Amino acid sequence: MSRVEIQGRFDNEVAALYSQRDPIWLPEFRQMFALVPELLKPHLIPDSMVLDVGAGTGNLSRSVLETIPDVKCVLMDFSANMLSAVPLVLAQFEGRFETLVADFIDAEYGVAKYDAIISSFAIHHCRGRQEYGGLYQKFAHALKPGGIFVCCDVVAGADDQLSHLN
Ligand SMILES: C[S@@+](CC[C@H](N)C(=O)[O-])C[C@H]1O[C@@H](n2cnc3c(N)ncnc32)[C@H](O)[C@@H]1O
Repeated sequence: MSRVEIQGRFDNEVAALYSQRDPIWLPEFRQMFALVPELLKPHLIPDSMVLDVGAGTGNLSRSVLETIPDVKCVLMDFSANMLSAVPLVLAQFEGRFETLVADFIDAEYGVAKYDAIISSFAIHHCRGRQEYGGLYQKFAHALKPGGIFVCCDVVAGADDQLSHLN
């Protein structure tokens, strides 16, 4: 799938379906998403800025905002349709989040801007070494010294059996 096709797909999804708390297509969803704030906690202080890359309807940011008080999230996604559900999903966290319509591969991230970068089920949409390499370079520049990147995604294993398990 090309990037334009991926964007088209998410622009035509029913965004509300993606903001379910226990989607049947993601077993252990809560457990998986609960791990992300646990990993972030030691690295964040009040007013820390967290960038959620490929944030969709805000599921991962919700997990962070409800677990860690006083941090703020920027939710980046190239699908305005997916982001349109964010104000509803994060309604109880008004003032602690903003959305940003941008392609995470081409976006300008700034330098030393974020205390943490997080992502769930989005970065696997990159294709090839150049896209992955470029993206991780951007993350490295965008993070403050001591910042942390946490990614929750499907990954290939060292062999077919581990890939199947993953
Ligand atoms: C499967 S959804 C996951 C959404 C959310 N992180 C979650 O776990 O519920 C993948 C998201 O990545 C976004 N996405 C994919 N490629 C992107 C790109 N190049 N730039 C920005 N967003 C992208 C899609 O629009 C979609 O909202």
